[in-house]
Amino acid sequence: MSATPIAAITGLGTAVPERVVTNADYEKYLDTSDQWIVERTGIRERRIAGPHESLAALCYTASTKAMAEAGVGPLDLDTIVLGTVSADRRLPATACDLQALLGARNAAAFDIAAACPGWIYSLAVAEGFIAAGRARKVLTLGAEKLSSITDMKDRGTAVLFGDGAGAAIVEPATGDGRGILSIVLGADGNLADLLYIPGGGSADPVSLKVVEERSHFIRMAGREVFKAAVLAMARASDEALAKAGVTIDEVDLMVPHQANLRIIEATAKHAGMPMSKVMVNIDRFGNTSAASIPLAIGQAVEEGRIKRGSVLLLVTFGAGFTWGSVVLRW
Ligand code: COA
Repeated sequence: MSATPIAAITGLGTAVPERVVTNADYEKYLDTSDQWIVERTGIRERRIAGPHESLAALCYTASTKAMAEAGVGPLDLDTIVLGTVSADRRLPATACDLQALLGARNAAAFDIAAACPGWIYSLAVAEGFIAAGRARKVLTLGAEKLSSITDMKDRGTAVLFGDGAGAAIVEPATGDGRGILSIVLGADGNLADLLYIPGGGSADPVSLKVVEERSHFIRMAGREVFKAAVLAMARASDEALAKAGVTIDEVDLMVPHQANLRIIEATAKHAGMPMSKVMVNIDRFGNTSAASIPLAIGQAVEEGRIKRGSVLLLVTFGAGFTWGSVVLRW
């Protein structure tokens, strides 16, 4: 293992809405079935926020847990970076609402729109800021209220998505070998229209037409996205391992983006990772985009599958297209 970490995660917290929506709930009004959803995606249920549950509130809950674990107070934070594509409002960034809720008045705050890799992109920003001497205590988040941008009448997407938030404090590595060993980021904007929201942005602002056409919701060409995801995640895994100087045998747990169990299985197979060393919780949460990996890490820590010093391979893919991968020693 050759890489020396610059930055390390010192605390992690997660939050999900209480409301559980099962496949049977979709069967009541969509032409779908529990069997189809489980066989094609691995999803059994997801957490969906109520109308009065904001993204900022989910972020607040996750953040306070992460800060408590790291022993970091609100005034210690110098930067808040939130990866999300479902901000509470188009303006300002939800990171600013979170900054106010936390009382983190010494922190700069901004959102990153990198879709599912949003938290990995946030980690890269935190590591870069720390390397440049620009920050020492960064609150990174991946959080989504995807239910607010999902067309609940579209069976091709409605059953896939869920809501949740993950937060992690990133600080300079202490020299004990723990921390981020490598990060790989990438994007291919030529494939943007395979997974996008056509209306409601500045190109086609909100109007009666946008609402009637339901073009303010996510549209996805599932099969094409599936293929691109498998290829990009395989390549990103290889690159992160090579950059870290880590072999797959040295990885204790692979934590892939939870979009589809079949994508996870294909990614693990390419990497030569047995499924016993792959974190899967898509059955409970569906695809929560940027929240997916921190939620999975949080559960793995709770279950004792990640311990101090464990080597993790994180890998993710999403709209943009964007992708990202990380090797880190926990
Ligand atoms: N219930 C029942 N049938 C459904 C359905 C649902 N919820 N959603 C789609 N179908 C149908 C389709 O209409 C299609 O019917 P047809 O053959 O009559 O046209 C059939 O199932 C097969 O569709 P297809 O899109 O080929 O299925 P798939 O095996 O590719 O699975 C996804 C669909 C969306 C689950 C899968 O493509 C996927 O997971 N894609 C990637 C998702 C992803 O990663 N997105 C985000 C990146 S973060």
